[in-house]
Order: sequence, then structure tokens, then C-alpha cells
Amino acid sequence: MSKVNYCNPVIIAALVLAGTLSAPAYSADQDNTIPHLSKQGAATQLMVDGKPFLMLAGELHNSSSSSTEYMKPIWPKLADANLNTVLAVVTWDLIEPQEGKFDFSLVDDLIKDARRYNMRLVLLWFGSWKNGVSTYVPVWVKTDFTRFPRARDAKDKALEILSTFSDASRDADAKAFAALMRHIKEVDGQQHTVIMMQVENESGVLGDSRDRCKAANEAYNKPVPKELMDYLQKHKDTLLPEIHNAWQAGGFKTSGTWEEVFGVNKPHEKDWRNRSSFTDEIFMAWQYSRYIGRVAEAGKAEYPIPMYVNAWLDQEGCPQPGEFPSGGPLAEVMDIWKAGAAQIDMLCPDLYVPDFEARCEWYSRLGNPLFIPETRGDPNGVINIFYAIGQHNLMGFSPFGIERIAEPNSELAKCYSVLSKLTPFILEGQAKGTITGAMLDGPNQVEKAQLGGYNLELRILRRWVSGPPESSVAAGIVIATGPDEFLAVGKGLMILFSTSTPDEIVGFATVEEGIFIDGKWMPGRRLNGDEIISGRGWRFPGGGYSIQKVKLYRYH
Ligand code: DGJ
Repeated sequence: MSKVNYCNPVIIAALVLAGTLSAPAYSADQDNTIPHLSKQGAATQLMVDGKPFLMLAGELHNSSSSSTEYMKPIWPKLADANLNTVLAVVTWDLIEPQEGKFDFSLVDDLIKDARRYNMRLVLLWFGSWKNGVSTYVPVWVKTDFTRFPRARDAKDKALEILSTFSDASRDADAKAFAALMRHIKEVDGQQHTVIMMQVENESGVLGDSRDRCKAANEAYNKPVPKELMDYLQKHKDTLLPEIHNAWQAGGFKTSGTWEEVFGVNKPHEKDWRNRSSFTDEIFMAWQYSRYIGRVAEAGKAEYPIPMYVNAWLDQEGCPQPGEFPSGGPLAEVMDIWKAGAAQIDMLCPDLYVPDFEARCEWYSRLGNPLFIPETRGDPNGVINIFYAIGQHNLMGFSPFGIERIAEPNSELAKCYSVLSKLTPFILEGQAKGTITGAMLDGPNQVEKAQLGGYNLELRILRRWVSGPPESSVAAGIVIATGPDEFLAVGKGLMILFSTSTPDEIVGFATVEEGIFIDGKWMPGRRLNGDEIISGRGWRFPGGGYSIQKVKLYRYH
């Protein structure tokens, strides 16, 4: 992946003159002080208190935030693991136990405790759906299945899933979510502890590829709504291949029933990524996006902080729509979600699958900013953060079940510690397109980048450049901070530099390791000799994370 050259000589000159590398300063954005997303150069960033913010986060288990007492010993653990943000659940059944009677005491406790530990919150609205099903709706919703009808499968059996074909369910959910957002504005509109909302959780139909209740069957055999057809026509040249191909197969019809426009629905073939026709999933994506878009809209009318949806991904073991929640915000139906739910700022992958890099790429399409609200918290899972930050302008990373993982000596704590020190440089590098990153777990893998006028190769560290690997995994990020100058953090990593000028060789003028204290670079050892592979490679040993600065020169 190539990046543009570092190109702010004024800032660089100032840094060089000062003789130190200090964290970039941002002027507060006065126009909109509530948390919001903002395009900063090459990246879309989350702005908190007027400054870009990188969420070094973790998501609590589903039931933890239902008890303030239970959370008490957890908060200090999260702080010790260097988190700056916690993803915590707020459920419809607990805030509205009786229709129209709200109880926000748990929300208030969460906000109070997060503040006590100097942390931000992303609140997860478990409303109509959580992992496809509707177990978090209040009892008055659960039991009134006439007013709040269930989705039905092919045998006409009711599923424990509120049907998207019910305005009553949508409006009741939207009302509760609006009340929640109104309350958050009241108690937190000044302090901004709550920085973002997740609307529902892993929505979609589980147990069948689509809802087959009477209203659903009728809608399926009616024309595709005009709003969606208009969107497709307007965006025809930029549609993602999945939807483009499905529409093309039917001859780009401008009207017709769902199967006329997108083809007769068929189960995926053995390799489920070869989608031939997945009309049921497209149909449900439209339904869920419209419903959830309306819920988000009601919330934003009260307090418009960023809102996202998360997806249970198609994968080995659950490749077919209905085995994963059909119609959820998966990568293949991103176009449909963008058309149906403009109020949603981001579609996010719950990323537990092995093809981490491909999923990051898919979710970065259509200008969708990347936030990973759930992922693996084991050491090899955690270090994916370096790749996502460096290559996809990641806005935040959040291993699931954080209270199990958050130990002061965990890989997560170590990663978050170094990343928190480098955050201003990371955010600036993302905005300027002067950053790259890697997570390598095979000896011959290589990530290539062009930064600051140099060609970089990031590889697993070897004894000598071509000797045996010294490490089984490597991770790191590198940022061009000035002319011929780079800052990097890494572990088990080797970075090789070259230029595109024939016969030009790159040498190390100086290499320093160091740390940042209050944003100021404090140099440690000057590295040379074996520590820079005799001038042939920038070396980050496998033991722990090392932060280093290099100044390069070129010779013939
Ligand atoms: C994904 C869900 O979104 C989470 O709430 C949780 O249930 C995890 N799966 C469990 O692995």
C-alpha cells in the first residue's frame, strides 16, 4: 500500500529546530464540541473535545454493566491495562421496565465510574436485537406478540426475533433510544464521557435466510422500494462488486420485485464468497437498515453523537445467510445499508475470523471509517491493531470480554501503553497519510509502503537480513515525521529502506531508542552495530515493544 510523502515542512522545520520530537498540537475545533466524526486529511477521525481521539478500548461481557457492584473491581483492572475507552451495554429491558417509565440509574453509574477512572464510554444499545435475537426487549414487549410480532421461518414458526415488518416495534424501540439519548445529553452533554453509540447488536435474521411472516412475504413479491432503486441508479458507477454483480445479473432492471431485480435467491456455493444470488440477504439488509436507521434518527434528534452498527460476519462454520444474521451490516451489503440508514455513521465488523486483513479492507470501502468494536484479546489477536492503525486509519480497537483479558502485564496492556504514548503522532500520520503498519505471522510475509520519499519493507526480524527468523510474529507501525526521519514502534520486526533512484543506497545517520514523557521524546540508547544489523535494517527485537527514531541519509 503506498502512501503520500510527508509534506509539511513548516511543522518539520519547527520540530527540527526545537531539536526534539514533541507531540503534534491540535487547535480545538470550536464549532462542534460534542463528539463527532471529522474528515482530517486522508482519514475520518473521531473528535472528542475538539481533538482527534484514538479509542484504545475493550468491550465488557454482555451482563457486566447490569450491576454497578459487579463492575466495581473491574474498573481499576481496565485502567491498569491502559484502556482509554470502555464499550458497555445498556439494555432496553432495564431502562424501560414498564412502558414509558424510564430508569437510567445504571447509565448514570456507568458514566460516574468511567469518569472516576478517566475513561470514555461507547454505549451499546441492546434494543430490538442482540446477536440476531430479541432477548433484551422488555417483558411488556416480549409478551405482547400481537402488538410486537415475531419474524417467522419457512415453516411459519415464530422466531425469538422481533420482525422488522412492524412499525410498532420500531417506534417503541426508537422512543426508548431517544429517551436514552436525551438523558445522556442531560447528564453528559458538557463532559462527553459518552463518545459514541452502537445501535442494536449484530442484527439480522438467525434461523432462516429471511423473515417469512405474512408482511415479509408480501413485501418480497412487491417491487423493490423506489428509494433503493433510485440509490442504485445514482451510485451505479461506484457500487461495490457484490451488489453491482447481483444487479447486473438481472440486467440492471430499474424496477421489479426483489427476485426480478437481484435474481432468484440461492444458497451460497461451497466457497461461500462466490455469491451467485443472495436476494434474501439483500432484502433483509434493506429492512434492518431502514428500521435501525429510524431508531438512530430518533436518538440523533436528541443528541447527535456518532452512531454505528456491528456485524456478525459470514465465516467458516456459518457461511449461509441465516447461519449468520441475514441482513446485518455485512461487507457484501454495505451499499444497501448506506442507502437505507444514512443516519448510521459506520458499519463495523466484529472481527474474530482469521482473514483479518481482508475484512479490514472490505470494511474500509465506500469511505467507511474503520472501527473494530469486537475482536480477539489473545496476544496474537491484540497485535492486529498495528496493522489496522497503520494501513486502515483505524479509529478504535476493542477486544471482547475485556474484564478477562485486562491484566497489567497482558499483551493488550503493553500494546495500549506504547500506543497511548504515540497517539498524537499516529493521528497526525493518519491524517497526512504518512503512516503504515504490519502484523506478520509468517517468515516470508512482507508489507511494503512508500513513506517520506522512501520505499519500506516491513518483515519478521531475522538474524542478519537474510538469516533465520528471530521471531514467529512481528508487529509495528512506522510514521514519517520529517525529511529523512521516521518514528516507529515494533516488536519482532525489521524495517528495510530503499529509494527508487538507481544506485542510491540508504544508510542510517542515527538511530535512537527512547520513550515519550508528557509527549516529549526522551532518548535512551543510541543504537548501532548489531542493534541495526550493521546498518542494513532497522531492528525491533522480539522481547517487548521498542520505540525508536531514525534519521536516514542516502549515498551512491
Ligand atoms: C458477539 C456478540 O456481539 C457479543 O455480544 C458476544 O456475545 C460475543 N459475540 C461472544 O463471543
